[in-house]
Formats: sequence, structure tokens, C-alpha cells
Amino acid sequence: MEDLYTLEHVYKTYKNYDNDYHALDDVSLNIKEGEIVVILGPSGSGKSTMLNLLSGIDTPSKGHIIFKDKRIDQLKPNDLTQYRADNLGFIFQSYNLIPSLTVKENVELGKELALDPLSVKKLIEQVELTSHVHKYPYQLSGGQMQRVAIARALVKNPKVLFCDEPTGALDEETGKKVLEILQEMNKEYHTTMIIVTHNPSIADMAHTVIRMNSGKIIEIKHNKKVKKASELRWA
Ligand SMILES: Nc1ncnc2c1ncn2[C@@H]1O[C@H](COP(=O)(O)OP(=O)(O)O)[C@@H](O)[C@H]1O
Ligand SMILES: [Mg+2]
Repeated sequence: MEDLYTLEHVYKTYKNYDNDYHALDDVSLNIKEGEIVVILGPSGSGKSTMLNLLSGIDTPSKGHIIFKDKRIDQLKPNDLTQYRADNLGFIFQSYNLIPSLTVKENVELGKELALDPLSVKKLIEQVELTSHVHKYPYQLSGGQMQRVAIARALVKNPKVLFCDEPTGALDEETGKKVLEILQEMNKEYHTTMIIVTHNPSIADMAHTVIRMNSGKIIEIKHNKKVKKASELRWA
């Protein structure tokens, strides 16, 4: 598999009175195309900072970030916006659906400006919401809302899907259902998925697990055998 991201000696530094504080402290890594990557670490370890740099929401203080042979660490805001629009999808713990739009309309929103969108109908089938297409978010459960968010993020067929605590607000059974859907989508569309979580149980479904602490990567593990999401056990 091709490298999708390469980070070389990346720092994100904040001034803290007289001291420099490194939210990311000399981070180097590779992420391969089509992988499911789980980033684990306690609160404050730098997970969100890492996600923000990979997804072009923020830029590093030092170091190189390469996406498909192209440096993105020094792009101007407009070019970063274009990079995100062309390549990235996002889902969050809080779903971020538009309350006044139906399931179908929420998913259609994701198609806007897409270069080569997937079928809205097929995606809604794949997230198992066909019988709910005309409902509004308030009529859905948390797990169903997250599945709408997945369909909305994937309808533009992004290269990468960033997932920030995707099951953070869900119970075990519903959370695993959401992860099963992510796993199926990864297989079908080869979408690279980068999942940030503090739930270590999710690591078993990843191809690669990155553990962070104090702004540093303390371990990178490539799972020989990847577990099905349905077989995960919440610790
Ligand atoms: N804009 C900022 N200014 C100063 N410190 C920040 C800023 N953003 C993040 N940090 C600090 O960087 C560290 C890592 O934060 P973060 O990446 O959000 O961690 P995590 O997502 O793992 O909880 C934290 O100690 C946080 O307080
Ligand atoms: Mg965070």
C-alpha cells in the first residue's frame, strides 16, 4: 500500500509564559492508504492536535506533513480549504446534523461540490436507514444519527475519513454497530479512516494503533489480526 500521510519531525508549540509547550513534540509517522488507524491516548496527550494538523485545520510550528507526495504543512488557508474539500470527510461525537433537514437531505448536503459523488440512495441503504429517509434527526436514536453522519461524510467519496470519538456518546451495542458500518465502508470504498478515541477497546479493529502521551508517540502497533467490530468488548 502507498503512503497517504508522512509526518517528519512535527512540532506544535505554544508559548506558555516563559516556556514553550509542545502539544506535539517531534512526531514522525506514516499512514498507509486504505488503513483503519486508531489514535489512543489520555486527555491532553495531543490527539486532537494531531487530527487538526492531518486534516489541515491547523498548521505545525515545525516539521513536514506530506499528503500523497505533496507538502501540506505550508499551504495557505485557501489551499487548505481546497485540500479538505477534495479529500476529507469528518464525523464527530456530536453528529452535527442539520435539525431542519431529513435524513436524505442531510446526506445530500455532503454531495455539494463533490467531484465524483457516490449514490445517496446506496449509502443510506449501507448505513441501514432506508426506512428512515424522511425522518428528522430528533426522530432518530444516537446510533442512527451517527450513521446519517457517516453517510453524509462518505457521499463525496473522500480519500480520508476523520472520526473524533465517533462512539463517545453511544452505549456499547449502538457504538459497535457504528463501528461495524465504518469497517464495512472501509472495505467497500477503501476509505482511509483515522479514529481518535480514549476507548482502548476500539484498537482491536484497527490495522494500525498509535499510542500518544505528552505530545509524543509512545507506540505504533500494526495488528496482525484485525477484529470484527461486532466482536469487540468494551473494556
Ligand atoms: N490553542 C492552544 N493553546 C495552548 N495550548 C493548547 C492549545 N491547544 C491545545 N493545547 C494544549 O495541548 C495539549 C494537547 O491538547 P489536545 O491535542 O487537545 O489533547 P487531546 O485531544 O489528546 O486531549 C493540551 O495540554 C492542551 O491544553
Ligand atoms: Mg481531544
